[in-house]
Amino acid sequence: MEARTCDGSAGDVDYGSVGGGYAAYRQPDPRIAARILAALGTARTVVNVGAGAGSYEATSLDVTAVEPSASMRAQRPAHLPAAVDGVAEQLPFPDGSFDAAMTTFSVHQWSDAAAGLREMRRVARGPVVVLTCDPALVRDFWLYAYAPEVLDTEARRYPEIAELTAALGGRASVETVPIPLDCSDGFNEAYYGRPERLLDPGARQACSAWSFTDDATRARFGAGLRRDLADGSWDARYGALRQQPTLEGSLVLLRAVPD
Ligand SMILES: C[S@@+](CC[C@H](N)C(=O)[O-])C[C@H]1O[C@@H](n2cnc3c(N)ncnc32)[C@H](O)[C@@H]1O
Repeated sequence: MEARTCDGSAGDVDYGSVGGGYAAYRQPDPRIAARILAALGTARTVVNVGAGAGSYEATSLDVTAVEPSASMRAQRPAHLPAAVDGVAEQLPFPDGSFDAAMTTFSVHQWSDAAAGLREMRRVARGPVVVLTCDPALVRDFWLYAYAPEVLDTEARRYPEIAELTAALGGRASVETVPIPLDCSDGFNEAYYGRPERLLDPGARQACSAWSFTDDATRARFGAGLRRDLADGSWDARYGALRQQPTLEGSLVLLRAVPD
């Protein structure tokens, strides 16, 4: 298992260094939240693993949050329960403790995704729901023309969907999650029709793949995108996205139930 940092971060990112502004840029999007709630079905008790600042935790459910980073736990709003300090790979709960389990934008950071998912399967009696990105699709996005390093990093970090379904066992379904044009959760693809937003260093810092890039890469990205926005070449190539209501990109929702 990956060593934990002094902030407690257990994955491939130190949220003690880069997580400070996360909640300001990564507000849960209500349309994505509705899909997650539907996938949880009739569950009442739910464990949310890699819970961060609490995105996508429905207040109508009895949610137990697990989050290793102190910086992320500190960003949880007052109306949500405090998170348990723990890691996916070793969940501190007996078998079958919850109706369901969920994890959003987290599994790609775990040191052992399969082990973490087996733990989720162990502690949940019903559905395990995973919001993640399909690594086969992450490069199909205009950002690849400006910062290929970032999406190459994402393609390497996100586990194959088949690997996730194999670890969960049972019956699994995978659906593409349409990303709304005004998506309030600022992951990279959320800005598909609002490219100027990615010029904000805070927005980039809230997407962990950028923390794997160096200053020169970020400067080259900023200069290239700024130039193409100013001379109209971004709009000539991708401008239709500014009006496109949703993007079917790499975001997927995986749901597995026991046999
Ligand atoms: C991008 S954030 C997502 C947070 C939240 N789920 C959301 O959707 O906004 C990824 C989270 O996964 C957590 N994480 C990383 N490695 C983990 C592990 N091994 N077990 C549990 N959580 C982990 C991080 O600390 C971080 O809070």
